[in-house]
Amino acid sequence: MNLTRRQFIKRMTAGIAGFVGIGALGYSYAWYIEPRLLSRQTYVIEHPKVPRAFHNFKILQFSDTHLGFHYDLEQLEKLVRKINEEKPDLLLFTGDLVDEPQTYPFSPRLVDELKKLHAPNGKYWIYGNHDHGGYGTEKIQQVMDSSGFQLLQNEHRTIKNGDSSFTLAGLDDVMLGKPDIAGALYGADEELFTLLMVHEPDVADRFTDKAVDIQLSGHSHGGQVQLPLIGHLVTPPYADKYVEGHYSITETFDLYVSRGIGTTRLPYRFLCRPEYSVFQLKHKDI
Ligand SMILES: [Fe+2]
Repeated sequence: MNLTRRQFIKRMTAGIAGFVGIGALGYSYAWYIEPRLLSRQTYVIEHPKVPRAFHNFKILQFSDTHLGFHYDLEQLEKLVRKINEEKPDLLLFTGDLVDEPQTYPFSPRLVDELKKLHAPNGKYWIYGNHDHGGYGTEKIQQVMDSSGFQLLQNEHRTIKNGDSSFTLAGLDDVMLGKPDIAGALYGADEELFTLLMVHEPDVADRFTDKAVDIQLSGHSHGGQVQLPLIGHLVTPPYADKYVEGHYSITETFDLYVSRGIGTTRLPYRFLCRPEYSVFQLKHKDI
């Protein structure tokens, strides 16, 4: 087919306009839409060490809100409502509450919102690298303390139901804290089902010989941007190997990595929706 010069220019222009249009659409989607498309990830953890008394026990994990970086208190308010609708038995936050504690304008409303979160068996949290960064260590702890969250910094608690129990441990942040796995598990009963919170997922490889059954992490943000067939492009240090979802590290040790709620560095998410995770414990007969 022979095109006249005018037709050729017209088609070229239309083609370029289309390409730019799709690019702009994708860009707008990644900036304005997907970061707000909160998703719910569900996992069933069926394990012989889960006591019968904890059959159907519901643990909710949220991570990496990065308040102050394209994530505000209105969004947090919606998240709080959603989490409370889930009626979790136990609530876990795996770090990075605020993007930059040094510059974030802390308001009493932050505590008011976090305080509203309800879980009968407790609310626990660990430090992420952004919490320790920018002199945030004490400020973030103040906020979380006032909101009814208990910090697990290289320590553990026993979660009880009648005579049955399991261990919940938390590690200090690997990048900017002083992580001490021996301290976190010191005195814990190795026979009990043990869940460990660690902000950075990749260190799971170091814990294969520890009495830990499950590790819950965040930090990766799933890479924030993923491409079809290629997957994630960039992840932060210590989230290189384990980026999102479930990994069987050994036959007796599983890792779950949350893509988190907010964003950092760049305010985009593409094919990498924000998420919170719901874990349902099930006792497994052997
Ligand atoms: Fe983060």
